[in-house]
Amino acid sequence: MSKFAVLGHGVVGSGTVELFLKNKDRINKQSNIDLDLKYILDIRDFPGLPYSDKFTKDINDILNDDEVTIVAEVMGGVHPAYDFVLACLNKGKSVCTSNKELVAKKGAELLKAAKEHGCNFMFEASTGGAIPIIRPLHSCLAANDITAVAGILNGTTNFILTKMITDKMSFADALAMAQRLGYAEKNPAADVEGADACRKICILSSLAFGRHVYPDWVYCEGITELTLEDVSYAENWGGEVKLIGSVKRTEDGKILPMVAPRFVCSGCQLANIDDVFNGVMVFGDGFDQVMFYGRGAGKLPTASAVMGDVIDCAKRTGTDLSLFWEDSEEPDFIEDYQLDTVQMYIRVNNSDKAEIEKLFGEVEYLSREGQPENELAFITPAAAEGSLNAKLEYLGEKVLGKIRVFDM
Ligand code: HSE
Repeated sequence: MSKFAVLGHGVVGSGTVELFLKNKDRINKQSNIDLDLKYILDIRDFPGLPYSDKFTKDINDILNDDEVTIVAEVMGGVHPAYDFVLACLNKGKSVCTSNKELVAKKGAELLKAAKEHGCNFMFEASTGGAIPIIRPLHSCLAANDITAVAGILNGTTNFILTKMITDKMSFADALAMAQRLGYAEKNPAADVEGADACRKICILSSLAFGRHVYPDWVYCEGITELTLEDVSYAENWGGEVKLIGSVKRTEDGKILPMVAPRFVCSGCQLANIDDVFNGVMVFGDGFDQVMFYGRGAGKLPTASAVMGDVIDCAKRTGTDLSLFWEDSEEPDFIEDYQLDTVQMYIRVNNSDKAEIEKLFGEVEYLSREGQPENELAFITPAAAEGSLNAKLEYLGEKVLGKIRVFDM
């Protein structure tokens, strides 16, 4: 018999309870386990639910109950989630979390605590919602040297971009809809400014390359500067604008993690991932490339990944399932993004082709409906990002926008 507790009864927490109770008999039969839910921790009251008797406001009820061997942490945020998770691990209780901020900021320490106490720290739900990506990376693909990972890692921004592009919905309306559907973070700035995708690329980078990558070390841009004009030029170029989280090994053996909007050509699988869906491409020496796709946010999709971890812990009690990566003190293994070679989409006004070609060389000009006479948009040849940025600085206020071209 395995008993588990759920910390937090918000969107994902209530989804986790709902999914488990709905499928409990099937789960126990098919996994050959005897799993049951004992507690739900939340400071709020939830009267009138069929499982209202399971609520507690005191973490000590869970910590001091030896019957509870698995804890699902779905509260979000670092505090108090970190304190609760560490306390559970220190008591030898396995923890399964959807909390990407917690994993991105404290993952190395929590993995170490789990190892020291003979339990597991699992976080399949932290990245890509329902998509299995953590487990494939550290088990199914474990024989390979991973060279790069890139994907659409935030459902809210992908939903907003889709609504803006296909339904011509305003940014504010699309964001409000994503919030109503339970996709967005409590503070949606974390979605639209790229912090959420950044946490996820930190987790995937740490996992793929074996050293903890902290969010502060990663260059991150969101979609707040993106305009419908940029979207039109992307269409004319033959692609779409997507918020991409990526990491790759560089020639000097460092890694380059980054989050930024990108022009993605329509032939690339990532260009066709719409709505709240996420997609992650992984590149490695043996398997070449694989692609993972599914719902990246939302109540039940995220609950599905949380419960997958809980079931795994219940099935394999006493087994070391946690992956591991080393902590890192300095970002000396992170490449300076300005050294990367990129092609860039640039939109300027009050310039002319002679000035642009003198600066950037042979560019590919783009057009859009309603393009003002004094506006130019173009794709540069590939060059070091630092040198392109120096040219943009020279152009100063003439620059209306710039977006990197995705090239993996
Ligand atoms: N706000 C996140 C997203 C939730 O939109 O992707 C899932 O991590």
